[in-house]
Amino acid sequence: MMEQLRLQLPDWIEASRIYAEKGQVAHYIPELAKAPGDALGIVAMGPDGETATAGDADLPFTMQSISKVFTLLLAFMDNGEEGVFAKVGMEPTGDDFNSMLKLELVEPGKPFNPLINAGAIAVTSLIHGATPEARTGRIMQFLREAAGGADLAYNEAVYRSESASAHRNRSLAYFLKDNEVLDAATDVEEVLDVYFKHCAVEITCAQLARMALLLACGGTDPLTGVQLVPRRYVQIAKTFMITCGMYNASGEFAIRAGIPAKSGVSGGILALVPGKLGIGIIGPALGEKGNSTGGVHLLETMSETFDWSIF
Ligand code: DON
Repeated sequence: MMEQLRLQLPDWIEASRIYAEKGQVAHYIPELAKAPGDALGIVAMGPDGETATAGDADLPFTMQSISKVFTLLLAFMDNGEEGVFAKVGMEPTGDDFNSMLKLELVEPGKPFNPLINAGAIAVTSLIHGATPEARTGRIMQFLREAAGGADLAYNEAVYRSESASAHRNRSLAYFLKDNEVLDAATDVEEVLDVYFKHCAVEITCAQLARMALLLACGGTDPLTGVQLVPRRYVQIAKTFMITCGMYNASGEFAIRAGIPAKSGVSGGILALVPGKLGIGIIGPALGEKGNSTGGVHLLETMSETFDWSIF
């Protein structure tokens, strides 16, 4: 498969760029608007570490919502299933990723799942650590380990840009505080600060592919043999990726591609083929539901060709 990927990916990238032209880079975080809208790159990595790379795979980008999969895993390791599901639900919303509609409309006012912004902010509040710096440090350390020891850091400009423009996330977080999803001891601004920082972690397609491979292999890094995450937690995270990973385009993506994936507004997508492949994609131009248009088309093409759907 790797050989065929190496041969065909350049053509598939070119064919998918047409879809990138139909999208738009995210503007609501001003710093993200500087990304090249026509870029598209991919790295796919097999369990032996072999890779296929094509397009603008060297373009660094921030994880944004992709980081939510990993804060969820860390929150599970810190609090267990019960602790996490006391604060977030298990259901897709059908609403935009930053919607606050259901927080007020549905009782109790608990976020529907950990991948929408409200749910991810609640999950971030569950990460253990005595100070916000310690919590950020533990998340950073976990992300580095998940990426096979990569030297990751958050992008200061993107972090500041998001923090300065995050009126909606602030509203969501204060809503959660009022609904007691963020508990009395939790400082809203401190939680948001940790959240903005993990969203701003800068990464490349190769590093993202390595992280995806960890999930594809059930939480055990196939290159080192080290089990970083219990299999059960990875299983839950991958289920959320299927039901909510592409937000309210998750149903369509499940039908067309049928593999676990998580997108971010930077245009990154982490995707995986269970047991076989970790995939990292960057394509900054987004469709109306916040997913990379070129990246989604590329994954659909690959999945159809190789019959990857898990269903
Ligand atoms: O909180 C936000 O709005 C961003 N830091 C992350 C949102 C995101 O990536 C949604 N993805 N498609």
